[in-house]
Amino acid sequence: MKKSKTIYLCQNCGNEFMSWSGKCEACGEWNSLKEIRVDTATIKTTRNKESLDIKKLEQIEVGENRSNRISTGISELDRVLGGGLVRGSVVLLGGEPGIGKSTLTLQFASKIPNCLYLSAEESLPQIKIRADRIKIDNKNMSLVASGDLEQVLLEASKMSLELLVIDSIQAVFLNSIPATPGSMVQVRECGIYLQNFAKKMNIATLIIGHVTKEGTIAGPKIVEHLVDTVLFLEGERFLDGRILRSMKNRFGPTNEIGVFMMGGNGMKEITNPSELFLLERENRAGSVVTATLEGSRPLLVEIQALTLPTHFGYPKRTASGFDLNRLNLLAAVIQKGTGINLSNHDIYLNVVGGMKISEPAADLAVCASIISSYKNIAIKSDSCIWGEVGLMGEVRRVTKEEIRQKESIKLGYKPLDKPKDLRELNKVIFS
Ligand code: TYD
Ligand code: MG
Repeated sequence: MKKSKTIYLCQNCGNEFMSWSGKCEACGEWNSLKEIRVDTATIKTTRNKESLDIKKLEQIEVGENRSNRISTGISELDRVLGGGLVRGSVVLLGGEPGIGKSTLTLQFASKIPNCLYLSAEESLPQIKIRADRIKIDNKNMSLVASGDLEQVLLEASKMSLELLVIDSIQAVFLNSIPATPGSMVQVRECGIYLQNFAKKMNIATLIIGHVTKEGTIAGPKIVEHLVDTVLFLEGERFLDGRILRSMKNRFGPTNEIGVFMMGGNGMKEITNPSELFLLERENRAGSVVTATLEGSRPLLVEIQALTLPTHFGYPKRTASGFDLNRLNLLAAVIQKGTGINLSNHDIYLNVVGGMKISEPAADLAVCASIISSYKNIAIKSDSCIWGEVGLMGEVRRVTKEEIRQKESIKLGYKPLDKPKDLRELNKVIFS
């Protein structure tokens, strides 16, 4: 029997082919197929070879897997996970290098008893320095600095672990796979190996993965669909703030966010991010506060508009943190509904603090900020407004109004009554 075979692996999407071609048939990328020799004899041994365990539905015991969650002790993280780490599940924590993945992980991992932290990137003294810096009290935590996944997991299987941390998936390897750590094949095989291990041993597993500039979890988008939960840590947009998002979650909500601040000694949770977003706000023409929802969490954010007469050619429209097409649509609706002539005005729109708003509930605030800037009159101070605007200029209700109301009142903002349509908006926002 042949001991090895040659496959062609797309470096972009990770699909494999039996023959080379200039263009990947799966993702359409040119020149992305790489020749790889795979040792078929050894690959098989790395996969699970136990006999299958077929069960009747009624024989399956749910107990452990379903409800057994491990709290991380960090409430922002717990909420994003949907109530804590699930035993036997695999979580991928992605983010750009240096964003704080290792720091955040070390902070909560140290609080979980029976945790093994595999560091394939940093040496143990380096981790010790970080642990001292973030003042970890648990000196009992187990750490290992090695990239050899098989060897580490062999030890781990003897340890009755609660949590296994792999830092990072790009730095670990399986000896039986003839490819360098971080390559597509290696990352994928390690991902599969870890997924099997987590399920078999019923251990919560957290895998850290670096993200390339394009925003994909480096090379291996493959890992994203292997794992149960994908979290993404992003930031550097406002101060030292970091936003943790759940992109996929088999055991909890998606689109949920947690907000952190990178400080001198580790990541601190920000339980009231609205305050952070409104920190330096001044009530001037063009500035409007709206309440938006990120997952189940309400957030007050400032929307700013600047309108200027167009000097040449078509009016210019730019939007940051808001959909440009939606801005164009709203500008048209304002023009038709209120008679304000925006066709000879440039509009610049900005959502402060680097937030991205994608829900239509922000429509009314966007309209209010444009009108306020156009008229050069500030809107009622300390007021907050939201609502969806339809093509006829009518204003509609949005989801979870009560939660938005509560959040604005909590922060000292007065929710304004929704006008029936844009024509009545003037009355509501100026007085
Ligand atoms: P790190 O967790 O190593 O990032 P990642 O694992 O995502 O690559 O974070 C490193 C950065 O965080 C580095 O620039 C130093 C900074 N940092 C702080 O600002 N405060 C701290 O307490 C720690 C531990 C790191
Ligand atoms: Mg790191």
